[in-house]
Amino acid sequence: MSLSAPLVLGIESSCDETGVGIVRGTELLVNAVASSMEEHVRFGGVIPEIASRAHLDAFVPTLESALKDAGVTLAEIDAIAVTSGPGLSGALMVGVSAAKALALATGKPLYAINHLVAHVGVGILEGGELPENLAALLVSGGHTEILQVNSLTSDVRLIGATIDDAAGEAYDKVARLLGLGYPGGPVIDRIAKEGDPKAIRFPRGLTLPKFIGTKENPGKHRHDFSFSGLKTAVARCVEQYQKRGEEVPVADIAASFQEAVVDVITSKAVRACQEHGLTNLLLGGGVAANSRLRELLAARCASAGITLRVPPRNLCTDNGAMVAALGAQLVADKVLPTGLKFSTDSGQPVSLISLAV
Ligand code: KG4
Ligand code: ZN
Repeated sequence: MSLSAPLVLGIESSCDETGVGIVRGTELLVNAVASSMEEHVRFGGVIPEIASRAHLDAFVPTLESALKDAGVTLAEIDAIAVTSGPGLSGALMVGVSAAKALALATGKPLYAINHLVAHVGVGILEGGELPENLAALLVSGGHTEILQVNSLTSDVRLIGATIDDAAGEAYDKVARLLGLGYPGGPVIDRIAKEGDPKAIRFPRGLTLPKFIGTKENPGKHRHDFSFSGLKTAVARCVEQYQKRGEEVPVADIAASFQEAVVDVITSKAVRACQEHGLTNLLLGGGVAANSRLRELLAARCASAGITLRVPPRNLCTDNGAMVAALGAQLVADKVLPTGLKFSTDSGQPVSLISLAV
């Protein structure tokens, strides 16, 4: 990597992680993350106001440790990139205000970028340039999307998304129903290994023919996800056992729930890739850590001739390095910076990769 590659500082605050990353071109220098997850445990999910306050406390120390560990000064940075959306409004505001202040004080160009596209951009830091014919499957506590990435810096399209809960959110809610605590993903992943995934046949959301349609005549929700019906089905199932005074078979329910989630996610992702002629798939988001998801997705991609790329876990979860990575690509592709006159956009569509000047 030449020293002339842009040195970019990335700031992430869309949910409960305060992330500051620094990259030089496609080289990762540092990825400092402070998480407020512990503060949300007793509520069983992220509380936006608590997350915003935690960002305020964590931002300066996280920035300082990132600069120190990377051995760079703010004066040496070529550009600053910050997540402007999608995400929690108040949480986004903390990162954006901090980024604007830094840009104003240092005179560096500022890019307001899309969190979802940054999850894809992070792929560049490990495994090199992104391949052509690329799709991305993003699964976390806040999102569940399939994207078509024609160009990381100029053409990203949404193929499918959840119409209600995100996949990780479903894990968290079901874990609460089963009394397993928060976050639900890791514990369900672990307990599911002791259960029978075929014990209970839970519903697969938006997989009925009326939603899927045919390739020629696709249903409205062919590539979309829904997990709220599944969550309700788990709740009813638990209630049935309790009503009968029987012990709730937690491991079997966890395994069967997980199988339903992972079956739908993987089959829909593979179908979307095949129908859009996409032969590469990048996986991102916190749920990418799920062992069954990795296993089934790898198997289904292999049989469909799709090359799967999974960044390391710390780059799959929310972080600042992904924001910096996308920022560096925008600089390299000579996309104009956003400047200081922009607002957060909690519903920023994927087509807005960075906000225009
Ligand atoms: O990307 P992330 O750290 O934060 C955001 O949601 O933005 O993802 C956290 C989500 C939580 O819902 C958590 O339960 C889920 O990822 N998760 C998992 C696993 N590890 C974390 N879900 C399933 N299996 C896992 N092993
Ligand atoms: Zn995310």
